[in-house]
Amino acid sequence: MLLSIRKFGDPVLREKGEPVTDFSPALAQLATDMLETMHAAKGIGLAAPQIGQSLQLFVIEFLLKDGEEPEFSFTLDGKNVPLALAMPLVAANPKIKILPDDEWLYDEGCLSFPGLVGAVARQEKVRLNYQDAQGQPHEIIADGLFARCIQHEYDHCQGVLFIDRMEKPDLLKIQTKVKQLKRETLARLKESGH
Ligand code: NI
Repeated sequence: MLLSIRKFGDPVLREKGEPVTDFSPALAQLATDMLETMHAAKGIGLAAPQIGQSLQLFVIEFLLKDGEEPEFSFTLDGKNVPLALAMPLVAANPKIKILPDDEWLYDEGCLSFPGLVGAVARQEKVRLNYQDAQGQPHEIIADGLFARCIQHEYDHCQGVLFIDRMEKPDLLKIQTKVKQLKRETLARLKESGH
């Protein structure tokens, strides 16, 4: 089922998500719906607050064409596995630890900010501990774009948005559109009586 993606200005995006405690089939269904919604919107990551659920939960899926290799490396539970085995990633109660390495800049987008991009500095390498949709604990150590995506989605679960971390000149460039988006979202929420 497609869910509606909350846009900047919706207060739920600024809430810290509640821990996931119910690992029932309803959670697996929510994750499935989030993945379907993310694919329809052509995204690679989506966090629960973005569909209006204030939870510590996000999904990530990198889709590669036949024969294409990912431009990052990672381990899942200490093992090198094919990307297809680690995807889609459904991460409940994520905890991240930055592993010593460099920061790097990259133009990020976000499904809650349609059409807006800007450079964000992120850590090159992170360790992610999380529970899957059945509540089983796992550990991923990832670098590059995978590590970046994990940090972006983790932030969503804390109520932190990419504009908070965006390079100032890039933020200035999109500032007017960000404010306009917020006004439109608030007007729409008011209209629908929320
Ligand atoms: Ni986002």
